[in-house]
Amino acid sequence: MIFSENNKKFDVKVTSLQEKQSINNNQFNKEDWSSAYQNVELELENKNLEVSQGNSIKELNGTLFKNGPGILERDGQWLHHPFDGDGMISAINFKDGKATFTNKFVKTKGYLEEKKKNKFLYRGVFGTQKKGGILNNVLDLNFKNIANTHVIKLGDELLALWEAAGPHALDPKNLETIGLTTLKGVLKKNEAFSAHPKIDLNSKYSKEVLVTFGVQTGPQSTIRLMEFSNKGNKAGEILFDRKDKLNGFAFLHDFAITTNWAIFLQNAIDFNPLPFVMGQKGAAQCLKSSPNKKAKFFIVPRDSGLYSGKSPLIIDAPEGFVFHHVNAYEDGENIVLDSIFYDDFPSVGPDEDFRDIDFEKYPAGKLKRSIINLKSHYSELKTISEQTCEFAVINPKFTGIKATHSWMACTNAKSGNAPLQAIKKINLDTKEEIFWTAAPRGFVSEPIMVPKTNSKKEDEGYLLILVWNGARRGSDLIILDSKNLEHLSTYELPINIPHGLHGSWSNNEED
Ligand code: CO
Repeated sequence: MIFSENNKKFDVKVTSLQEKQSINNNQFNKEDWSSAYQNVELELENKNLEVSQGNSIKELNGTLFKNGPGILERDGQWLHHPFDGDGMISAINFKDGKATFTNKFVKTKGYLEEKKKNKFLYRGVFGTQKKGGILNNVLDLNFKNIANTHVIKLGDELLALWEAAGPHALDPKNLETIGLTTLKGVLKKNEAFSAHPKIDLNSKYSKEVLVTFGVQTGPQSTIRLMEFSNKGNKAGEILFDRKDKLNGFAFLHDFAITTNWAIFLQNAIDFNPLPFVMGQKGAAQCLKSSPNKKAKFFIVPRDSGLYSGKSPLIIDAPEGFVFHHVNAYEDGENIVLDSIFYDDFPSVGPDEDFRDIDFEKYPAGKLKRSIINLKSHYSELKTISEQTCEFAVINPKFTGIKATHSWMACTNAKSGNAPLQAIKKINLDTKEEIFWTAAPRGFVSEPIMVPKTNSKKEDEGYLLILVWNGARRGSDLIILDSKNLEHLSTYELPINIPHGLHGSWSNNEED
C-alpha cells in the first residue's frame, strides 16, 4: 500500500457571504465553520473590550483563560489536525464591569524554532508530517510540547497543559511564558502531566485541592496521581502522590474524582506504532478500537480519602470510547460517572482534510451515565441524551459530589452529527433540557460556568463561551445566564480565535 503525503497545500476559498445559502437540517454552512481555522497573527495586552450587545456584568470579577491551537499553517503547509497546533492563550479579565483582552502564544521551544524558520520542523501526534514525504518523517519520533489543551492556575503559576509532556508556566497577568516547570521539583523534566486537572473544593485537607495525574504508557502503564494544595500559603505544594501500574496500553485523556476515588476509564484500544515509526501516520492515527479487548475502569483510592494506601479496583467498563468525563459522585456502594461516549476513536485519516470532514461519517459524542458497583464489581451504562455533544461542565463547586445540572456544547439539531452550535442545560436527574443556539452561523466551544458569588443554588451563575461568528468571520465572547440560558452580553473580540479546547475561570485575587 502506498501512503500519500499528508502535507498537501490547500487553497482557502473565499466566497461572498451572499453565496452561503446552503444550510442543511443542522443549519450550518461548512465554510462558516471552517473559516475559524486561521493563524492568530496578533498578540495583544490589556485591550479594552466594549459590549456590543446586552450589558456588562458587574458581578463578574476575575479572568477567563482559554487555550487552543493558534497556528494552523506555516509557509503554505496546513496541519493535518488542529489538535497539532501550537497553544495560544486568551485571557479576558472582568473588573467593575470593565473587560480587557490579552492573548499570547505559549513560547515553547518548538514554537520558537518553527516561527524562526517559518516551517513545521516536528511531526504532530494527530498526523501532521514534515514536508518531504515519508523519507523525511521515517524514524523521527521527536515531537514538540505544544501546550495547547488547557490552561489553569496552580498556586501563583498559570499552567499551559499538554498531556504528553510537562506543563509550561505562564505569568497570569500578562501571559508571558516563564518556561517548562517541574512544579517545585515534583515532576521530572518534561514528565507527562495530564491536561485535565480537577479542582476539589470539598477536600478536608485544603480549601482548594488540584487533583491530577500523569501517564507513562507502554505494554504496562503507570498512572501517577497527584494532589496539590491550591489556596493559602501552601498553594502549589504537593499533598499526596501515588503511582499505580495497569496492564496494557492506556490512552487516558481525562479522569473523574469523588471524595474517596480517582476514576480512570481505560478505553479498549490498540496502539500499533509501526506506521508512526515508519513516517506514514501520526501516533494518534495508530489508535484503533480493539474488538478483542474489554474497556476497564481503573479506580484508584485517593490518599486524602477513606481507602488511602489500598490497591486500585479494576472493573469491566462499557463499550465505547471516552475522551471526557463530566463528573462523578459516590452513591452508597456505587460510583456514578457521567461521560461523553463515542462509538469509536474519532481520527482524521491520512487522506482527509480536517476542514472538510463529513460530520455525518464521524463518530458523535453522546452523554451517558455509568453506574459502577464497587461491591459486585459490575457496571451498567445508561444513555442520558442521544443528542451529539461535547465539552460538558458542571458548577465547579460540585466537582466530585452529586451535581444535578450540566451545561455543554451540542449540535443545533437533536439528531445527527454536525459542528457544535448550541448550548444545552440538562437536569441530570429529570433529563429536562433547555437550549441557547448560535445557529445558523455561529459555532460554540466549551462553556465555562462561573457560579454567582453568594448563591447556594447550583445553577445560578454565568456561562462564558467563545463563539465563532461565521457571519462576521470573527470571535465573540458570549455570556449567558446559566439558570435560564438568557443571552446577557456579547463582546466582539479583537482577534480571531480558531475553534479551541479547554479553559478555566480564576477570581481576581482581592476577592
Ligand atoms: Co480534553
